[in-house]
Formats: sequence, structure tokens, C-alpha cells
Amino acid sequence: MANVGVVGVQWGDEGKGKVIDFLSSFADIIVRFQGGANAGHTIVIGDKKVILHLIPSGILREDTYCVIGNGVVLDPEVLQKEIEELKGLGYLKDDKRLMISGCTHVIMPYHKKLDALKESKAAKKIGTTGRGIGPAYEDRVSRMGIRVIDLIDKKVFREKLKANLEMKNFLIRRYYKDEPLKMKDILKSYEPYRKLLKTHISDSVAFLHKAIAKKKKILFEGAQGTFLDIDHGTYPYVTSSNTISGNMTSGAGVPPSAVDYILGICKAYTTRVGEGPFPTELTGPEGELMRKIGDEFGATTGRPRRCGWFDAVLVRRAIKLNGLNGLSIMKLDVLDSFEKIRICTRYKIGNRFYDEPPMALGDFSRCEPQYEEMDGWNTPIKDVNRFDDLPENAKRYLGRIEELLGVPVDIVSTGPDRNSTIVLRNPFG
Ligand code: IMP
Repeated sequence: MANVGVVGVQWGDEGKGKVIDFLSSFADIIVRFQGGANAGHTIVIGDKKVILHLIPSGILREDTYCVIGNGVVLDPEVLQKEIEELKGLGYLKDDKRLMISGCTHVIMPYHKKLDALKESKAAKKIGTTGRGIGPAYEDRVSRMGIRVIDLIDKKVFREKLKANLEMKNFLIRRYYKDEPLKMKDILKSYEPYRKLLKTHISDSVAFLHKAIAKKKKILFEGAQGTFLDIDHGTYPYVTSSNTISGNMTSGAGVPPSAVDYILGICKAYTTRVGEGPFPTELTGPEGELMRKIGDEFGATTGRPRRCGWFDAVLVRRAIKLNGLNGLSIMKLDVLDSFEKIRICTRYKIGNRFYDEPPMALGDFSRCEPQYEEMDGWNTPIKDVNRFDDLPENAKRYLGRIEELLGVPVDIVSTGPDRNSTIVLRNPFG
């Protein structure tokens, strides 16, 4: 396949970073198309662990180009830190390899402040990552946003900042009863970012279209997961962008025909961080055990992740929403020590059974998961990288997932390392 898109099919943290790192060795260009520094992609290479929040994980490959698309909301402070960290580790030797669309919206200090204030005052908290994502996307939609192209123009930036700050400070002072932000402080702290962004700004749409014409291989890197999608997730407990594959086109500026294959990433179980419904959540010792073995703590905020069984109702829906061609099942080894393993095949609300997730939040919270139970394999499979070396019960579990979902399993991950990967079919061919 020429171009491959990768999306999370649960509530994020599925292990996209590892799969993208693997797939990027077959790609010429890696593009992020939505989200911001709320994401946290962890990649383990030998004894090195790199966590990237903003820059596409493909930057760890010497010969690829990485693009931050217009659909992303970019925090220049995080960008600067990541660039410094990458350079310190010997990556990103050539600045030209990282391109940022001029139309990408910039996260400003008032976005982060408002994110925190809104959460602290809300009766029902979303549990955001506090990275200013929601307020930045609000400004984009209300046509108030400051884009990279605006920031690098001193005069335009000053004008836009002034107009924004007047409104934001009114809200901060009058509604939240907090300290307003000072224009001169922001101008001072954002001054160095102008130079940084000038180095990386690009007409990424033109670049990608040239690459498509030359039949270069492009990898579209999704962040978060399908059920954090602003439209299709468990609203309002979602992020503020479209996380599904449809946004690859508007968030990067390519037509739908530019994406040939869509790979969905899911864990062999389910996790969620932040608030919101989670039908298969295990609140007792089994959930604790999953969290401990799977090291389920947020890569961005360090918060403990909620853990539960594999939910086929959700993943089936994600297959439809994203048009998935294949699946990558991550962290199969985390289930090594479970005597019995469960898969949720449908929901029950009152006396009725449901094959699709409900639309009303209240119904979602009342869903009783209906489980199928299978025997576990009770054998360590960590680092197995050949399908034939998996225990029969692990093969059976993967087979049952394929059967229930009707989509092939392309990749299985058995540990954080690059080598702990079983590749049954490479989406790039
Ligand atoms: P926000 O994206 O920071 O506004 O957070 C909204 C919701 O999405 C919260 O429940 C976050 O925990 C969740 N969220 C955002 N980004 C990620 C991610 O990369 N992984 C998992 N959850 C996320």
C-alpha cells in the first residue's frame, strides 16, 4: 500500500507509538493530523525510552520527513522541549525533516489557564490533560485562533493577541475570579518561538501533494482514540478533535483517496484515563493487576489508567467509523497470568440487549457488559515474535477477536520493545 493511516480504536493509549515506530521504517513521510500535546507516544529502543507528545514518532528514523498538519493544536513550549530532547539523544540532525503547517493553531498560555480553571470549577469534571487542547480548538472554531503563520508575523501576532487577551482576561477575572495574564509577558515568552517556528513552517499541503504525485509512502499518525472523538466518542467525556480516520484528510489537507489502508490499534484489553463511561471496567483486584502488569499510567499526566476487559461492541463500532482494514493487538502479554479471559460481545440495558453502543450518556453508564469467557494461557509470552510460538489459548483468543470483529489481526505486540512484535501482514505490503 502507498499510504497507511493509524488510529486508536479505544480510549487512547493503545500503543500507537510503537506501531508507528515500526511502520515508519517503511514510510517516507509521517503526518500528525489532530490533537496536540495531550497525546503521549512511548517508544522503547533498547534501553532508551522516548515519549513524544507532539512531534510524530517517525522522527526517530533517520531518513523520514515528519509533518505536523493543520489539524493539530501546537504548544510551542512542548515543541521546543521535544526538539531539544531529540537533538540531545542524537535524533533530528536535519531541521528540514520536521515541517509544520502554517495553518496549525498555536496553544497560548490562556488556553492552558482556561483549561485548568474550567476543570477546577466544573461540577462534572472531564479529567482533561490540562494541555489547553479544548480552549485552543474552541478558538479555532470561533475564528479567534492564532496560527503558526500569524505567530511568525510580529504585527499580526500582536494584534491577534491583544484582541484575544481582552476577551480571555475578562473571563479569567470576572467569571473565574483569577489573575489575568499580561500581554508583555506573553510577548516575551513567545518571542523565541517565532524563530523556532520559522525554521519549520511549511506549506505542508503542497509538500504532501507533491509526495503523493511521486508515489512516496505516507503514514498518517492518529492520536487519542475513537471513543475520545468529539462527535463519535462518549461525549462530553471526549477530547476536542475528530480522532477517527476521516480527519486524516481535513487535518492534513489530502483527499480521502490518499489513504489506502487504515490500521486500528487496540489493546488486548481496554483502558481509559479521565472520567466517563467504561462498561467493561474492572474496579476490583483484576483491574489492579492489569494496571500493575501493564504499567497503565498515563504517558502525559502520569495518572493511573482505568482497566477492563476487551470490549468487542466498541471495537466493532470503531471498525465502521474508521473503515479499518486491519487491527494491531497490543500488550497481549499483559494477560499472561489471567486464569480466565473475558470478551464483551454485547451490552444489556434493563431487559434489552444491544450490539451497538448507546447514544445517551446515561444509557452508556447503565450498560451491563455481556461476556464470553475463555481459558487463559498462563504462560509468559513476553517478547515472542513468531505467531507459531504463541500458546494455543493465546492463538484462540486472537482468533476469537478476529471472528467477532470480522477484521484481520495484522500485528500482535508482546512487549514494549521494537522486537517484541509479531507481524502477520505489513500494511505497507
Ligand atoms: P483533553 O484532550 O486534554 O481535552 O482531555 C479530554 C479527555 O481526553 C480526557 O479524558 C483525557 O484524559 C483524554 N485524553 C486526551 N488525550 C489522551 C491520550 O492521548 N490518551 C488517553 N486519553 C487522552
